[in-house]
Amino acid sequence: MKLYYKINTYGCQMNVHESEKIAGQLIERGYLPTDDDNLADVIVFNTCCIRDNAERRAFGNVGALKKLKKAKKSLIIAIGGCMTQQPGVADMLRQKFPFIDIIFGTYNLSDFGKMLDDRLKNGKKFTSLIDSYSLNENVPIYRTSGTNAWVNIIYGCNNFCTYCIVPHVRGRETSRDKQVILDEIKRCLDEGYKEITLLGQNVNSYGNDRGETNAFASLLADISKIDGKFRLRFMTSHPKDLSQDVVDIMASTPNICNNIHLPVQSGSTSVLKDMNRKYTREHYLSLIDMIRSKIPNCGITTDIMVGFPTETEEDFLQTMSLVEQVRFLSAFTFVYSPRNLTPAAKMPQLDECVKKDRITRLIDLQNEITLQESTRCVGGVYEVLCEDKVGDNIYCGRTDEGKLVSFSSDYDLLGQFVNIRIDSAKHSALFGKVEV
Ligand code: 5AD
Ligand code: SF4
Repeated sequence: MKLYYKINTYGCQMNVHESEKIAGQLIERGYLPTDDDNLADVIVFNTCCIRDNAERRAFGNVGALKKLKKAKKSLIIAIGGCMTQQPGVADMLRQKFPFIDIIFGTYNLSDFGKMLDDRLKNGKKFTSLIDSYSLNENVPIYRTSGTNAWVNIIYGCNNFCTYCIVPHVRGRETSRDKQVILDEIKRCLDEGYKEITLLGQNVNSYGNDRGETNAFASLLADISKIDGKFRLRFMTSHPKDLSQDVVDIMASTPNICNNIHLPVQSGSTSVLKDMNRKYTREHYLSLIDMIRSKIPNCGITTDIMVGFPTETEEDFLQTMSLVEQVRFLSAFTFVYSPRNLTPAAKMPQLDECVKKDRITRLIDLQNEITLQESTRCVGGVYEVLCEDKVGDNIYCGRTDEGKLVSFSSDYDLLGQFVNIRIDSAKHSALFGKVEV
């Protein structure tokens, strides 16, 4: 009899990749993937808690499974990830949703398979959260991301931005061994992946916990020397740690993409100070100048937050002027959401109407810039890695700078590098034809 699993993933790329590790443990036990709740024998929620809405969505979806569990007693429901790693949440989940079988955290995701074995063998409901992260290199990975392979280089975060819960649920920075990373990348390339994306909450801190200096630039240099045509990307960079060495190696190495995600959060130095970001508006702008002087066509993207408790209208206008000055390719924009355990949650909060008004103005401005930047590409020819088939003969992929391109082809181009002439643009998407 075939057994099936379904994983519901919330949040960032780190979670997407960690779901590949949960999937690896299920595949190892003979389960097959499905998108159908009714067919699944194991349903896993890999949760996020960075903003209130991510938590609420997960709660709602877990709650909706009560009926299914009642009808199918053998169904195993497991919940893990950032939300469950918060103190007290596992107890609350057990009370609110007594039908959950397994609760695990971010620190012990590699034990998920064993917890499932125990649940099936002894029938006992299982909660397991540990309070310090330990590296486990022996987790099987079932990659689901097409042509791109995610590779973790550093776990956790030491920065404690005053709004952010991540350091509280993912522990302190722990870098992986360089040789282990290089071996994993070589395996991915041997398996046919065409793009490697290095992951970490702050990739620029890679190696600091091991007492190494300039380790990230040296890691990039070593990876780029691996044989074969492939693209190398990384995320996320912290402006306080991004060094000239990293930008130099990006500029001088063709297979490292000219694409950097550099979250600014705010354009106001005083808000940045209250956020404990450890850089100023001027420093951020000088980084942008440094990047563009070395890599003129670099695709720069960012995260921006509005409505931080101490943000005045003047501070917000500083964010708007920074956005106008930098002209990001695109930006993830967020309304500040108070998070338990964080200092900013204890400050007097701004009115919801003020937050809503600011996010609307920011999104309108960034949309205008994104469209202008996209329109500038019309007429140009870009090398695109064909990453996905999205319709009959319709494919999509990204340029080196990270711009999304759709195009049609009568041939299957998945996994191939193709030159595309851009003939139109809509918001952040470009449309074009294969150039022969
Ligand atoms: N509220 C809103 N956005 C947040 N982020 C982190 N914490 C919060 C919060 N409490 C945003 C930041 C970060 C991105 C991943 O999520 O912009 O860069
Ligand atoms: Fe959160 Fe700041 Fe760490 Fe990013 S750097 S994960 S925003 S604490």
